[in-house]
Amino acid sequence: MNNPIGIFDSGVGGLTVFHAIQKALPHQHIVYFGDTARVPYGSKSQRTIIQYSLQNMIFLLQQKIELLVVACNTSSAYALEELRKHSDIPIIGVIEPGAKKALNVTDNKKIGVIGTEGTIKSGSYEKALRSLDETCTVFSKPTPLLVPLVEENWIHHRVTKEIIEEYLQDFLNKDIDTIIMGCTHYPVLKQVIQEVVGDKITLVDSAESIARELKKLYSAKSVQKISGKYNFFVSDNPEKFKILGRQILGEELDRVEKVFFSDAWVMDTFEK
Ligand code: DGL
Repeated sequence: MNNPIGIFDSGVGGLTVFHAIQKALPHQHIVYFGDTARVPYGSKSQRTIIQYSLQNMIFLLQQKIELLVVACNTSSAYALEELRKHSDIPIIGVIEPGAKKALNVTDNKKIGVIGTEGTIKSGSYEKALRSLDETCTVFSKPTPLLVPLVEENWIHHRVTKEIIEEYLQDFLNKDIDTIIMGCTHYPVLKQVIQEVVGDKITLVDSAESIARELKKLYSAKSVQKISGKYNFFVSDNPEKFKILGRQILGEELDRVEKVFFSDAWVMDTFEK
């Protein structure tokens, strides 16, 4: 168990997933890639998301990862199958763990899902939930403005709360008892979302669900008792990544390296 786990996201939001995995598997080396040059993914087409996700995976495979976590919900929704066609290592997305967790915690099987336009349009959470339990009722809603609010570090801003109220008001008269936060950035807003929906609704954090799955997967394997080493790569603006990273992780990221995606590589991957 010496090779790292690879995690990729469209940007900094996937650090919520990194954080949960780091806590669950403190001895595991992790390589994180945030595609900060091309964020957001949530409003892009499936074809573009597949292209970007393949490039991100190729980069992480070059770092000799043994397992890939697709932290980005939009990539998990649109590109997981395609990624699996191109690599033999285990590839885990966030949709299924989130759906399983929601079904574990719901009492009345009325589940709300919020995510980017792409994630909601793909219907992936709905499909995953209904394939696990066809008697559940799913209410989905794209909430795209929440991503830039987190990127802007407006986590406790009054405007953020107002926008969440506006987005979630139609969930509140539907007797929903569970909401899946189907986007990497939303766990950062968990406290505000909870204030808006009240404490009778359980919020499901895909980051925690995937960390629990990985812990199960790794519990059978023997691990070295050393602290995990972490490498962070981004495709642009490492300084901004560090600032938001500190906000999400509550600690300093020592080193964030910028990766140069050459045009030739982009074209080459696109043609495949
Ligand atoms: N990482 C994306 C997701 O979880 C959110 C940010 C974006 O739109 O790129 O869907």
